[in-house]
Amino acid sequence: MTSRVQTDSDVLNDDAPWDDFDPRAYVDQNYRDLLDADAEILTFVREHFSNHFREHPDRLIRGIDIGAGANLYPALSMLPWCTEITLLERARKNVRYLRGQKPHYDVSWDSFWEVLCQDPEYAVIDADRRERFRARVQVEQGNLFAMERRKLFGRSRDPRRWQIGTMFFVAESISTSHAEFRRGVACFMEALEPGAPFAAAFMEGSRGYDVGDRHYPACDVDETQVRESFQGFVEKIETRRLGESSHLVRPGHTGIILACGRRDRNS
Ligand SMILES: C[S@@+](CC[C@H](N)C(=O)[O-])C[C@H]1O[C@@H](n2cnc3c(N)ncnc32)[C@H](O)[C@@H]1O
Repeated sequence: MTSRVQTDSDVLNDDAPWDDFDPRAYVDQNYRDLLDADAEILTFVREHFSNHFREHPDRLIRGIDIGAGANLYPALSMLPWCTEITLLERARKNVRYLRGQKPHYDVSWDSFWEVLCQDPEYAVIDADRRERFRARVQVEQGNLFAMERRKLFGRSRDPRRWQIGTMFFVAESISTSHAEFRRGVACFMEALEPGAPFAAAFMEGSRGYDVGDRHYPACDVDETQVRESFQGFVEKIETRRLGESSHLVRPGHTGIILACGRRDRNS
């Protein structure tokens, strides 16, 4: 997500060099240490999921993190409730990174877990977290946009919908196209069952970003565009803009938008 300020010419999702995406460089740039922005996001997401399951208790659900990349904290945020968590990712080296994290994920992710652990739902599985992650996470190489096709067959015939989901810095950070941004959010929504709680994060005002020596496209979105992209899919949504200067340690964007909500029950 570290960005250089430049305007990309049109780069669609299929045009970007995903197989060159270097997960180690990405982690070093973004997740080596816990940043204030991620601590704040984790706090809101923790409260959102924990409040949801207090009202609707369930510990036998399947979760999905779309475009997981080299970020484990969205998956960790779903860990207390899931029997299975799918990490869907397009880029080959990211898939390899995620599979490599399964047996014993790196200690650098513990500072992220500690924020989650301030809630008893997470604290109760603290001792067990690595074993759960190892046993319950499945890494799948795949394309977010393939979720769209499932509509053709009708939802009742699709066994592959999930009961909780996350998608962090994906829909706006995989293409310069606003149409692909909206399709990305729609595909995330299509992957979720009615009533499923979700959390999604977006870079605001991003012009693209470098990972190692490669450049990746982004499209410039604001909070209104994020809210609009969820219209027709949600029964409840709350968006927050994190725009304090302490959140702008990653240059080239103007803030972060977090959307927490629940999938429409009638969909
Ligand atoms: C900016 S990174 C975000 C990674 C991670 N979710 C995070 O929070 O840092 C965007 C991710 O989306 C993945 N991606 C790009 N196109 C995709 C697609 N069509 N389907 C699934 N994942 C995709 C990239 O490989 C990359 O890992």
